[in-house]
Amino acid sequence: MLEVRDIHSFYGEAHVLHGASLNVRDGEVVALLGRNGMGKTSLIRSIMGLASPQVRKGSVTWRGETLTGLKPHEIARRKIALVPQGRRLFPSLTVTEHLTMLKPASVKEGWTVEQAFGLFPRLAERKSNRGNELSGGERQMLAVARALMIDPDLVLMDEPSEGLAPVMVQHLEGIIAQLKKAGLSILLVEQNLYSALAVADRVYVLETGKVVFESEAAAIEKDPAALTRFLGVH
Ligand SMILES: Nc1ncnc2c1ncn2[C@@H]1O[C@H](COP(=O)(O)OP(=O)(O)OP(=O)(O)O)[C@@H](O)[C@H]1O
Ligand SMILES: [Mg+2]
Repeated sequence: MLEVRDIHSFYGEAHVLHGASLNVRDGEVVALLGRNGMGKTSLIRSIMGLASPQVRKGSVTWRGETLTGLKPHEIARRKIALVPQGRRLFPSLTVTEHLTMLKPASVKEGWTVEQAFGLFPRLAERKSNRGNELSGGERQMLAVARALMIDPDLVLMDEPSEGLAPVMVQHLEGIIAQLKKAGLSILLVEQNLYSALAVADRVYVLETGKVVFESEAAAIEKDPAALTRFLGVH
């Protein structure tokens, strides 16, 4: 289980997370919802140990071990992977190079490039294309596939469906369901409530750096009004 307890994070003097807490149990898909600028990316970055924002109070633990204070590569070694918002690919590297760069040939465990291509056949067709030659949907698939190469147990996905056409969003929902079936835990940042409900077991809503709502996804499906006021959707 991932446990985030009372996290306070700052960009310089700007205090952006105000005591956020959540947890992700093993094998769960948990959606983190909230409008623009509410702190979703800041919370994901705080969990991943990135340098900014700086965590000044609170703790993150994973399977009982404290992650707070560890560097991102040390957190990745504990089988936590990040799919960053905006995809962050290398324009001049090919699809295959993106998938192999994180993984020295000597490392045998975890996902192989062939397995990643099995999950994303489209990437196999594009394997020699460079990052800047991919469509938005292909880039997003590659960002997810790349995260899998470290053989994660937990994947932090920051708005993977952002900017995708509905058919691609559906495809991504199918991928998330497959990863869950394979036993992975996922913390999924989403702006689209219905896309989140399609895949999540539970949801949290973040508002100005604090969790203001938490529910089982199934309960929201019966009463979406309970949640929509936090998200400004109708
Ligand atoms: N690098 C930064 N330096 C200073 N302030 C920042 C920085 N990045 C984000 N912020 C501020 O922190 C707050 C939370 O931003 P964050 O990116 O975490 O929001 P978000 O919920 O991910 O939004 P979005 O849905 O638009 O991605 C916002 O007020 C934002 O302006
Ligand atoms: Mg964000």
